[in-house]
Amino acid sequence: MIGINNAEYESTISEIIRFFRVYADQYHHHKEEEILFPEMAKKNELLAEGILAKMYDNHAYFRELIQAIEADLAQQKYVDASLKIDEYTGALLDHIAVENEELFQTAYSIFTEDELENICYRFMDLDRDLGEMKKKDFIDVLKQINNQLV
Ligand SMILES: [Fe+2]
Ligand SMILES: [Fe+2]
Repeated sequence: MIGINNAEYESTISEIIRFFRVYADQYHHHKEEEILFPEMAKKNELLAEGILAKMYDNHAYFRELIQAIEADLAQQKYVDASLKIDEYTGALLDHIAVENEELFQTAYSIFTEDELENICYRFMDLDRDLGEMKKKDFIDVLKQINNQLV
């Protein structure tokens, strides 16, 4: 991002925020919160108090960080905004690792094939409600952002 002006910086960061808010949060985190986590909690109460509570907390933290990044941007605190974006991406990678290594393994062990299939269909319904084309558009947005960063 060397050599870009304030307007270009703000526009790139705004796109990153939009990606986090719409793609990561609306398409992904809400899907987990509205469908997967409640189904897992129904199967095992201990999960609700343990790993699921931690995952909900992580999602809430991501939402707070997005608001804080927007506030920094509005005040042209670009260094603070960049540091928070680093924090967000680091925390998100940790969150994804916990889900992949622990949460989804647990899900595979507690649900039957039919239950997993049903959850998958509900995920697809939610994507349809939010708009599948919009989801695909985000792949292009990501590519554009990536090109601006190199
Ligand atoms: Fe998650
Ligand atoms: Fe996830």
